[in-house]
Amino acid sequence: MMKVSAATIIRNAGFEDAGAIYTLIKNHPREVIPRAVSDIVQNIDRFLVCVAQGRMVGTAAWQILPEIGRATHPSIEIKSVTVASGFQGQGIGTAMIKAVIRRVKVYHPAQIVVLTFSPDYFRRFGFREVPKETLMHKLYMGCINCTKYDSPFTCPEVAMTLAVKARRQ
Ligand SMILES: CC(C)(COP(=O)(O)OP(=O)(O)OC[C@H]1O[C@@H](n2cnc3c(N)ncnc32)[C@H](O)[C@@H]1OP(=O)(O)O)[C@@H](O)C(=O)NCCC(=O)NCCS
Repeated sequence: MMKVSAATIIRNAGFEDAGAIYTLIKNHPREVIPRAVSDIVQNIDRFLVCVAQGRMVGTAAWQILPEIGRATHPSIEIKSVTVASGFQGQGIGTAMIKAVIRRVKVYHPAQIVVLTFSPDYFRRFGFREVPKETLMHKLYMGCINCTKYDSPFTCPEVAMTLAVKARRQ
């Protein structure tokens, strides 16, 4: 658990949060890809939530991307980053993204990936734009089943990566 302020914390999600996470994501369909409750429940161990004054006001998730062959340092994607409308602009998104980065670094991924409509926001955390072609594993996983755009190469989302330092033995 991490304290953001006196009445605001970031913690691991539990099953009881699934409904609120579903609604939060669903309320931002233009910026975040909607997720089914069953998908959220099955991946609840990959969600953080922010609770302010007893209310769930933010969420962020991650996913390990597939690699072909013997992958020792796969990429991890940060996804489903959402702050409730009335709570935006108070540093909650920043605290959550920093918390997710810290959380996934323990796995020593080669890089952290994000697909976003807000590249300027993610630049603040060190993410840099990359051509989508360099993230084919991501495109195969998520984008191939997308119902919003007919091709990842015409989709307006920007691909960005954050390099992660290799583990020192
Ligand atoms: C984007 C989002 C997660 C940011 O969370 P937040 O809690 O409002 O952000 P913060 O309070 O941490 O913002 C910190 C700074 O980033 C800026 N910022 C916020 N959203 C931004 C955006 N979309 N693009 C660029 N800068 C942004 C803020 O103006 C603020 O600037 P300041 O420090 O100079 O005052 C939130 O607005 C949100 O949930 N939006 C809808 C869903 C979405 O777009 N998710 C991202 C999908 S990848």
